[in-house]
Amino acid sequence: MSREEGLATPVCVRDVERLGTQLLPRASLDYYRSGAGEEQTLRNNREAFRRLRIRPRVLRDVSIRDLTTTALRKKVAVPFGIAPTAMHRLAHPDGEVAVARAAERMGAVFILSTLSTSSLEEIAEGAPRATKWFQLYIYKNRSVTQNLVMRAERLGYEALVLTVDAPLFGIRWADARNKFHLPPHLKLANFTEPEESDGVRDRSDKGSQLQAYVTDLFDQSLTWDGISWLKSITKLPIILKGILTKEDVEEALKYDISGIIVSNHGARQVDGFPATIEALPEIVQAVDGRCEVYLDGGVTQGTDVFKALALGARMVFFGRPALWGLAYNGEDGVKTVLDILRNEFDLTLALTGCASIGDIKKEMVVPASYYSLL
Ligand code: FNR
Ligand code: LAC
Repeated sequence: MSREEGLATPVCVRDVERLGTQLLPRASLDYYRSGAGEEQTLRNNREAFRRLRIRPRVLRDVSIRDLTTTALRKKVAVPFGIAPTAMHRLAHPDGEVAVARAAERMGAVFILSTLSTSSLEEIAEGAPRATKWFQLYIYKNRSVTQNLVMRAERLGYEALVLTVDAPLFGIRWADARNKFHLPPHLKLANFTEPEESDGVRDRSDKGSQLQAYVTDLFDQSLTWDGISWLKSITKLPIILKGILTKEDVEEALKYDISGIIVSNHGARQVDGFPATIEALPEIVQAVDGRCEVYLDGGVTQGTDVFKALALGARMVFFGRPALWGLAYNGEDGVKTVLDILRNEFDLTLALTGCASIGDIKKEMVVPASYYSLL
């Protein structure tokens, strides 16, 4: 292998990010990468993981390691999966199908976004054995959402992930400057009516067209009753994505939901929200075992997965790393990201004296201040 090839072979998610971002057109890169405002929360999502320390145990038999866990009582190969992110065809012509296939090969959960550029049907056909969940946004026109729910159910998606932190989208400065919109060859593939499928087109010179789309079509009046409505039209388990406070946990648990994803929407909504790993302990304590708790935001290393699990998450998800993998090398690029994380997580288990996820104990992860006596 030449030195150039060696350098181009990613060994960590940061390498995949560097390689993938080099290949993306400016507006797509800005859309994927950006957080709200000054991006303090975006940085903090990652940095807060660095403020935690791992307390390892030694001399335990780690010759055989089991990375499997369950999510919604179904066995999955690894305790991490792919968060829903919109518009994968901006990164690669194979779009969401490539990402779902990579997840299928790993045995990891894949969550499809409502705002995808490949349809529910294309994913079901392209990755038939993947564990697929469908992320929902609720439209003012409820029949639009109902239609998505019916299709998800019929096509074998195993859960609905209702995103509750986005009645509107945050202001991402780069998208506003770029007047972000979908190029003419792409559509929001889950819709047939032009209002929904073509709505993120270059229609005016007023900032991000995605922001305009959401303002026009998403239901800003949605309240907790919306969950009762959803339950009245589907039997699928419901997971709420975007809860950051114990107060909302108490509300949520009145509605027989199956899970909560602690998320700040990739720091894209309000700059100043906590890092998700900072918010996790409050949520885990409030839930007290009454539903499953997951986390997304800033996960880029196997040690991040370990830290989140020690602090009580059952599973974690990542968004942008999958997009960088997709841009870098399509389905194989996403698989590369999954392989890197799997390997790093496996090694973290071995080197902390854990043979399985059940061996990860709360006291193994502490804030850096634990060591601040000197
Ligand atoms: C998102 N996210 C998101 N969430 C959601 O519920 N529906 C969606 O369509 C999208 N779309 C989307 C697009 C892009 C480009 C990004 C970066 C994020 C949020 C996503 O599910 C997740 O919460 C974050 O991406 C997690 O943070 P990391 O892993 O990107 O740091
Ligand atoms: C975003 C969406 C689509 O954050 O949720 O851009």
